[in-house]
Amino acid sequence: MSFNTFGRTFRFSTWGESHGPALGAVVDGCPPGLELNEAVIQPFLDARKPGQSKYTTQRKEPDQVKILSGVFEGKTTGTPISLMIENVDQRSKDYSEVAKAYRPGHADYAYDQKYGFRDYRGGGRSSARETAARVAAGGVARLAIPEVAIRAWVAEIGGDAIDMANFDADEIGNNPFFCPDVQAVKRWEALVDGARKDGSSLGAIIACEATGVPAGWGAPVYAKLDSELAAAMMTINATKGVEIGDGFAAARLRGEENADAMRPGQDGPEFLANHSGGTAGGISTGQPIFCRVAFKPTSSILTPVETISSDGQATEISTKGRHDPCVGIRGVPVVEAMMALVLADQKLLHRAQCG
Ligand SMILES: Cc1cc2nc3c(=O)[nH]c(=O)nc-3n(C[C@H](O)[C@H](O)[C@H](O)COP(=O)(O)O)c2cc1C
Repeated sequence: MSFNTFGRTFRFSTWGESHGPALGAVVDGCPPGLELNEAVIQPFLDARKPGQSKYTTQRKEPDQVKILSGVFEGKTTGTPISLMIENVDQRSKDYSEVAKAYRPGHADYAYDQKYGFRDYRGGGRSSARETAARVAAGGVARLAIPEVAIRAWVAEIGGDAIDMANFDADEIGNNPFFCPDVQAVKRWEALVDGARKDGSSLGAIIACEATGVPAGWGAPVYAKLDSELAAAMMTINATKGVEIGDGFAAARLRGEENADAMRPGQDGPEFLANHSGGTAGGISTGQPIFCRVAFKPTSSILTPVETISSDGQATEISTKGRHDPCVGIRGVPVVEAMMALVLADQKLLHRAQCG
């Protein structure tokens, strides 16, 4: 019962820690014959990698992926695909404080209670370095769902939301925040930099949309597409909430407002709204799949916080070292990867049962 594996048919397991020599993923159940090499996966890792702006951690990791198995003559063979990323910029001495005392909000205390000891260097397995492995696995998953286009963006930082009237998808890749609203970018530069200089941190909300998902993926009860997505997103470090479609706002609508009215269209039904986020009864409707994911503010901050030492004494901790002032920003490629991994799994499950 170690729970390092996700998925049923398209499965992946991740391994490795923040300050170990390497980390990676083993993808099992990938269909054969898909064209795969490192260059297919690398752009997704490049989007997630640290040290790309002053708004993320300054740890410099090239995050170059190596494919160790499961590919022959440039194509997936149907056997396990092993992916490895070396850690090259560890600074374990930065974690001497974390060795002695628990960071409130981080996993230090909980790991000690569960396992009896912990790898405090960079947070060990609780570090979001692990998410690099999922992003690599997600790059493979995308090959299994070529009909689907996935894009995520930062919708809100520190309570300051984008204006959907300014939404420009082309802007998402043009700024360090994965932000589709140029006006919000300017505000967020000051907001995130201010938090960093204050020795503090900020939370964020990431939105993710998958288009091209046909009607029929998902299952009616214990593998509802909604619950699979929520579970997948909640496995990402620092996530504290997931909304599918209108999510909590749906609870404030009346029935006629919330209904995604339908009309006959030229290529099947036409929906007049998508409050449901593309699912009904746990199964995709053919509308875009849409979810939002809430990331809490980084717990490793310079501002001193009251805590206890490993031997139970009252103390306070000020976490030095290189940390993301807003972890949600680098969560964007991770959310996209989890969306791809869930949809690849659901596509194969649907094919297995319904042909
Ligand atoms: C992309 C990404 C980067 C992160 N970077 C940091 C970081 O630099 N410092 C930190 O304290 N937490 C960081 N986190 C969050 C921690 O990994 C997370 O809070 C911790 O493992 C405890 O788990 P929990 O918040 O899910 O309960 C990051 C999370 C993500 C998704």
